[in-house]
Amino acid sequence: MARTLTLPGMLDPHVHLRGLEWARKATFASETAAALAGGYWAVLDMPNTPPATIDAAALDTKLAALNAEAVCDWGVYFGASQDDNTAEYAALENGPVCGLKMYNNATTGTLLIADQAQRRRHYHAWPPAKPIAVHAEGQTVADILALVRETRRQTHFCHVSTAEEIALLHAAKADGLPVSVGVTPHHLFLPADDVRALGPLGLMKPELKTAADQAALWDGIADGTVDVVESDHAPHTLAEKQSEQPPFGVPGLETTLPLLLTAAHEGRLTLERVIELVALNPQRIFGLTPPPETDTVVDLDATYTITRATLFTLCGWSPFEGMQVRGRVRAVRIRGEAVFDGERVLVPPGNGINLWGPDVA
Ligand code: DOR
Ligand code: ZN
Repeated sequence: MARTLTLPGMLDPHVHLRGLEWARKATFASETAAALAGGYWAVLDMPNTPPATIDAAALDTKLAALNAEAVCDWGVYFGASQDDNTAEYAALENGPVCGLKMYNNATTGTLLIADQAQRRRHYHAWPPAKPIAVHAEGQTVADILALVRETRRQTHFCHVSTAEEIALLHAAKADGLPVSVGVTPHHLFLPADDVRALGPLGLMKPELKTAADQAALWDGIADGTVDVVESDHAPHTLAEKQSEQPPFGVPGLETTLPLLLTAAHEGRLTLERVIELVALNPQRIFGLTPPPETDTVVDLDATYTITRATLFTLCGWSPFEGMQVRGRVRAVRIRGEAVFDGERVLVPPGNGINLWGPDVA
């Protein structure tokens, strides 16, 4: 008998699904299918894909496309903009978004806010009931923590990647600040001392760091500083990645869970901790309870090699290709409905719902 594990309502709070003006890279249909294949009940989509989700019109466009195409449940972030868009925020307190995303260091897209006074304006304007997710690296983590101390706004630090950042956030938690910490599978599992071997497929923001930084992320998982493993799924076409100016970002929705289960098999963390990192903690941070009969069954003993041939993501490649993993998604249910059977998506586009939308009681 194969050993199985059932996970309750896996939620990835950090994905870039594409679609719209970047449908050549991936679509809401393809990437939400990749989410189901990765075991996920729901994903939260970032605002940087053009047209950036920084005004009501762009938000409506994205909501309509996701409503039509998504096969898993979902939420979307509103984006903080350099051209002050804080006047939009009050309407979003009870509106259709999961939170605010603020980019404070350079990355894909045009949403960088480098000025601390501007950041402060966004922090004060955002309705306190919903989290602010931040891209902050190095000294910027301290700058954002100063705003959290001042405003007490609940803040999720995305893709934390260095020992220094982990130390700052560990101290902030000890001080009782309302912060949570996400780390990505690429920062945990790609060989930190061999970045160049991956070439452009190893390029993302934040970039891969040193083996010592990677060890600090694992320590953060062990001591509770890290709350979430989030994929930062960011598909770009292989041709774009192999071009003269490769864009930053890697896909990850289909590989996060098997990589974590493999680490659990190797004794690097417990299965209970895996469930916290990919389901219970993201649910808590975003105030979600999964619907009844919403879960993922994995075969803990199935081993396989990650290959591009079996991926659902439209970009069709993975920085983890060639890695041998243990643990395979066999079934995903949402609201009692079988949505993925280990090989096929079983529901039509549009089956997923906005978890901050009118369909939720
Ligand atoms: O590498 C990255 N790619 N980091 C980000 O923050 C954005 C993402 C993208 O959208 O491609
Ligand atoms: Zn991201």
